[in-house]
Amino acid sequence: MIRPAAAVDTPTLLQMTAATGYFKPMEVDALQEVLDDYHDREQFDGNRCFVLEEAGSLVGFVYHAPEPMTEGSWSLWWIVVRPDAQGKGHGGMLLDFVEGDACRQGARMLFVETSGLPLYESTRQFYLRNGYHEEARVRDYYAEGDDQIYYRKRFATLEKSPGRDCYSA
Ligand SMILES: CC(C)(COP(=O)(O)OP(=O)(O)OC[C@H]1O[C@@H](n2cnc3c(N)ncnc32)[C@H](O)[C@@H]1OP(=O)(O)O)[C@@H](O)C(=O)NCCC(=O)NCCS
Repeated sequence: MIRPAAAVDTPTLLQMTAATGYFKPMEVDALQEVLDDYHDREQFDGNRCFVLEEAGSLVGFVYHAPEPMTEGSWSLWWIVVRPDAQGKGHGGMLLDFVEGDACRQGARMLFVETSGLPLYESTRQFYLRNGYHEEARVRDYYAEGDDQIYYRKRFATLEKSPGRDCYSA
């Protein structure tokens, strides 16, 4: 079941994020601030955070938001699946949910950024397999030798159908 994140979920979401080994401690700290702000006020600014729950335990989460001062550009800021649950389709399910959710709010395209380091090869493959294309690369952005890569998926609203309001273009 995918449901809106609640403030009480935050400790578990921080724990699973740290446990992936993909995020630096300062990034996990930043996530805590993001989630605290979200529950304090940002959910009222159009930001969206959802969790995937199975049999009463949290399996993963996503956080996406419209880009200010754009018409329909959205970013996926966080997508995390608990380490013992990875590689079983949960990430794909969450990403599909994000795309449908953003489209229903008028998204034209979704951006996601990740690192060019070898550790993130499986993450990059995940986006490519889900129809994202490399749109830009900022060399040495995160650190010397650690590029920032932007992936993009563009949507086209072809026709309305129940549960799905847009399609990849
Ligand atoms: C990236 C992530 C969200 C994908 O979720 P997932 O549930 O593992 O992905 P799915 O099972 O839907 O898809 C699996 C595909 O994603 C890729 N993949 C990424 N990470 C993987 C992992 N740890 N295990 C297996 N496949 C992984 C593979 O290309 C795989 O394709 P394949 O099944 O054809 O080999 C998840 O692995 C994760 O949380 N990783 C750590 C955090 C992270 O990198 N987040 C994104 C930061 S930018």
